[in-house]
Amino acid sequence: MQWQMKHYTTLDSTNLEAKRIIQSSQADLSLNQLHGLIVAAEQQTGGKGRLGRMWVSQSGNGLWFSAVIQPKLPLEQAGLYSFAAAVSVAEAIAQETALPVKLKWPNDVLWQGKKLCGILCELVARTKTEYYIVIGIGINVNQQLQEFPPELHDKAISLAMIARAPVDGASLLSTVLQNLQNNCALLESEGFARIRDKWKTWNCVLGQAVSVQQQGKELYHGIAEDITMDGALQVRTPEGVTQVIAGDVSLRSSSGANFFDAADAVTE
Ligand code: BTN
Repeated sequence: MQWQMKHYTTLDSTNLEAKRIIQSSQADLSLNQLHGLIVAAEQQTGGKGRLGRMWVSQSGNGLWFSAVIQPKLPLEQAGLYSFAAAVSVAEAIAQETALPVKLKWPNDVLWQGKKLCGILCELVARTKTEYYIVIGIGINVNQQLQEFPPELHDKAISLAMIARAPVDGASLLSTVLQNLQNNCALLESEGFARIRDKWKTWNCVLGQAVSVQQQGKELYHGIAEDITMDGALQVRTPEGVTQVIAGDVSLRSSSGANFFDAADAVTE
C-alpha cells in the first residue's frame, strides 16, 4: 500500500473530512483511492476526541491527521486496529526522539501522566461487506505550554516541551505512517497476539489500581489485569473480574485518589 496525502491548511476535523471523502466517492473508485488515504490539516477548528469530546487542535504546531484503511479483518475485530495505531505512535516517538512514552488503555499516549497523543478510530460502512476505518491521530509536537488552554496545563504536554527542543513533525509523521502500515499488516497476518504483546511493553495500566468511568459515571474500581484477545481491559474488582470494552480509565494511587487521568480530561 502507498499512503496518499491530502493536505489542508485548516479543516473542521480530519476525521470528518476523511468520512466525507469516503461517503462521497463512487463505488468504482473505492479500493485504490480510499485505502491508504491520509487527510492531514495544519489546524482543526472542530477536532474530535473520543466519547464525543472535543480535541484542542487549533495550534499549527501539532500533527493532526487521519489515515483511511480498508481492513482485512472482519468488522467485529475493527477495534483492534486502534491498538496497532497506538503502538505505531509509541514506536515512532521512540525512533524519532528516544522518549519512552507510555500507553494507557485503549490508545492514549502519555508522558508522565500527561497526554501527548490521542487516537480516534471511526468506522464507515459503504456496503454490507465494504467498510473502512478512519484512524484519527493527534500528536502534540511543538506546542509550548501557553498554546494549550489553561485547564489543560497540567494534563497535556508536547514532545518539544519534554525534549526542550523542536521536533521534526514531517519526519515523525512519515515514521508513524511506516509503522502503521507494518503494524496493520502484522495484525492482519498474525492476529492480535503480536500487537497485544507490543502494546503491553508500552503500557502503564496493567497491574495498577484503576477506576473506570462511562459517561462521567464511575463504574468500577479494581486492578487492571490484562487485555483480552478482543482488546477489552480485564479488571479485577471486589465483585469479580469484569471486561471493559469502552470507557475512560484513570490510574489511582494506593490511597484511592486519582493518580492521573490526563487522557480523559484533556479532551473535555
Ligand atoms: C482522544 O480523545 O484521545 C482522541 C483524539 C483524537 C484527535 C485526532 S486529531 C486528528 C483526528 N481528527 C479529529 O478530529 N480527531 C483526530
